[in-house]
Amino acid sequence: MKMTRNFLPEQYRQTGALEINHSYLQDQFADHELIWEKIREVVKRGDFTLGSEVDKVETEFAKLNNTRHAIGVGSGTDALFLSLKALGIDKGDEVITTPYTFYATIGAIVTAGAKPVFADVGEDYNIDPCEIERKISPNTKAIMPVHWSGKPCEMDAIEAIASKHGLAIVGDACHAIKATYKGRQAGELGTFACFSFHPLKNLNVWGDGGMIATNSDEMANKLRLLRNHGLAGRDECRLFAYNSRLDTIQAVVALHMLEKIGHITKSRIAHSNYFDECLRDIPQITVPHREADVVQVYHLYMVRCERRDELQRYLVAHGVDAKVHYPVPMHLQPAAAFLGHKPGDFPVTETIAAQALSLPVHEFITREQQDRVVALIKAFYG
Ligand SMILES: Cc1ncc(COP(=O)(O)O)c(C=O)c1O
Repeated sequence: MKMTRNFLPEQYRQTGALEINHSYLQDQFADHELIWEKIREVVKRGDFTLGSEVDKVETEFAKLNNTRHAIGVGSGTDALFLSLKALGIDKGDEVITTPYTFYATIGAIVTAGAKPVFADVGEDYNIDPCEIERKISPNTKAIMPVHWSGKPCEMDAIEAIASKHGLAIVGDACHAIKATYKGRQAGELGTFACFSFHPLKNLNVWGDGGMIATNSDEMANKLRLLRNHGLAGRDECRLFAYNSRLDTIQAVVALHMLEKIGHITKSRIAHSNYFDECLRDIPQITVPHREADVVQVYHLYMVRCERRDELQRYLVAHGVDAKVHYPVPMHLQPAAAFLGHKPGDFPVTETIAAQALSLPVHEFITREQQDRVVALIKAFYG
């Protein structure tokens, strides 16, 4: 059957307005007929709730991450929320995290009932461990480091702080599938590591999905209850809980994508290395320091730029989908007003939010397209 470019929902379709796009879903799912075949099997079996595809993807995901368990849930946000709930986090508790993240990190903490306490980031855009220690109070229950853009945080230091103060670590690994820190997979970092399968993530499905990796048998059992109404069996409810199962149809897509994630990761890294090489010598651009003992998987490729907003507009006008992730940090969002922060509270975060620009590095970008982006940036700065 001929592939149509319009099988995806409206918001994920390429508009054709930009030639070098962040969105690449039509190409990525060009083999969608293979997935439909597998979905048809599920439909024939009527195996829609958890079932064998969810079991399989959990087993494969745990294997990939060297963890004892992987628990499929409804989204990356639910992965974070349910991990906090598995720890018993509730009203009056505090969770230390970064103000330089996506809204869902903070949303999970707030909807779990806890107070987000921000610690500023370092020059690598990730939470600064020295800042974490200064924010610990008698109410602190957990640290939520975000492996932003697919770069693992400084986990040796964060784990030392957590063990000194008896805190759990709920890692936001939504950008970080296949990232490694000193040889350890992203899933092995923290009490829990939470992943997203959102359509724009490195491993993506046809809607929402998420996964929690953990080595704790106790926490894994609790999470399996929490995601499925607290059911230990059809007629036994151990605790009243949530409905956040990984959808079986999405599990089929995730299994398909797990076969490709090695290639996706390698090409994102190769394209990012090429941008690093080309952009490093432009004086108005700051390429972050890259560390030898981490594998960064570049869910986002970000650099800091002088006159960032003007450069973004220039690139977009020339067909390049340059994006800002995100211009207003969490502590300055209207939703965070109850925390009483003001501009200047987290200076490194605010500087990065004002200067960082993301360039497309997905697996379908070509060397010619990357050269064009670099030439445009050079032309912009004259
Ligand atoms: C850093 C971060 N955390 C959490 C999430 C939430 O993931 P999901 O969209 O699957 O709920 C996202 C998603 O965009 C994210 O970027």
